[in-house]
Amino acid sequence: MDQIIVHGNGPLKGEIPIAGAKNACLTLMPATLLTDQPLTLTNAPRLSDIRTMTELLQSLGAEATSLQDGQVLAMSSHDLTSQRADYDIVRKMRASILVLGPLLARHGQAEVSLPGGCAIGARPVDLHLKALEAMGAELDLRDGYVHARAPLGGLTGAVVEFPIVSVGATENALMAATLARGTTVLKNAAREPEIVDLAQCLRRMGARIEGEGTGTITIEGVDALHGATHPVVTDRIELGTYMLAPAMCGGEVECLGGRIDLLAAFCDKLDQAGLSVEETPRGLKVARSNGRVRAVDVTTEPYPGFPTDLQAQFMALMCMAEGTSVLEETIFENRFMHAPELARMGAQIEVHGGHATVTGVQQLRGAPVMATDLRASVSLILAGMAAEGQTTVSRVYHLDRGYEHVVRKLRGVGAHIERVREE
Ligand code: UD1
Repeated sequence: MDQIIVHGNGPLKGEIPIAGAKNACLTLMPATLLTDQPLTLTNAPRLSDIRTMTELLQSLGAEATSLQDGQVLAMSSHDLTSQRADYDIVRKMRASILVLGPLLARHGQAEVSLPGGCAIGARPVDLHLKALEAMGAELDLRDGYVHARAPLGGLTGAVVEFPIVSVGATENALMAATLARGTTVLKNAAREPEIVDLAQCLRRMGARIEGEGTGTITIEGVDALHGATHPVVTDRIELGTYMLAPAMCGGEVECLGGRIDLLAAFCDKLDQAGLSVEETPRGLKVARSNGRVRAVDVTTEPYPGFPTDLQAQFMALMCMAEGTSVLEETIFENRFMHAPELARMGAQIEVHGGHATVTGVQQLRGAPVMATDLRASVSLILAGMAAEGQTTVSRVYHLDRGYEHVVRKLRGVGAHIERVREE
């Protein structure tokens, strides 16, 4: 297995291109199941999660080909041969559940393995199932699978009010509703940019959708969708992660393709911490000129709040801030696994339930550390870049799920980082 070796760094300088969003791409890809015509995605990220979704679509009989070095995904679901998403693929990636709504809507049935728990919490799929049930689906949970069937005339439009905001459940329900008979209203829907991107793509495919980006999305079902070409929205989490690199090490980095509107709450926190964030014609430029950043409290929330997927990386920054900050995690119940790893590097962190209290130190020290999940792994790299000495991050396969060419991108702005095979 590979390891990433990072050496403490001076100020960074240069630019980092930001890829298309993993989480948007993972919901846009299953949208191909809604039509028998080709769907092409441009600006796709090159990630192992995207390869897993490709494998899943292919296992259903869809064609999914990656072109132009992986940046274009050409898909077609003309002749599906299966409606079963197997445990072997679903266990690798929870987002596999996103084939359920489209399969049910266009093919009337689906069997999808239940994803099970994951490192950051129990993460059930009950809200996905309730939304589809409200549209008339009959569901049966047995042998670790959801066996779903649409009524004879297909799914029907319904009013679905989500008790809590769920990105995945909103996406599954939105996709299913495009082909349901009549009107569906999704209340307390997720407002994430990835949902807006999905709605825009579905609209290009002929769907009738209004209200995406607000808490209420209205979908007027149509008989069939057609093919389209759609560019994947910028990855706001990759963007936020790389914006933290100059915040940690000093210097100035321009993130190409970055937009403040994707990350307004996060940019506010960077501002409060004393960093400068500037919009440029090509993206966002972040600079830290001198001195330590200030401690800032953060609470993770659904969009437009501070994203849970940037909590680990922001904690790395707070480990070096002047003062004490409290980071509150409200989305997932077990999302501080990076804290003990950061503590191995000299960070002072106390975790009590959903709160982590971080007291900044003058200097982190390099150490061997272990990546526990996708975002945790990149927080350890950021910490390593600001630490004295060498940090070795193992289990980097987590990183490959969500960050393309991380070593190349960080080396491009002057980071001392390399990937090696573990001996
Ligand atoms: C998506 C993102 C993930 C991000 C998360 C929150 C993808 C592929 N992943 O995950 O990176 O961290 O949004 O922004 O887009 N819940 C239930 N029942 C359900 C569904 C969710 O209780 O049926 C709970 C979850 O356990 C969690 C909360 O709702 O506590 C929010 O989860 P959700 O928004 O659904 O996250 P995902 O779509 O899985």
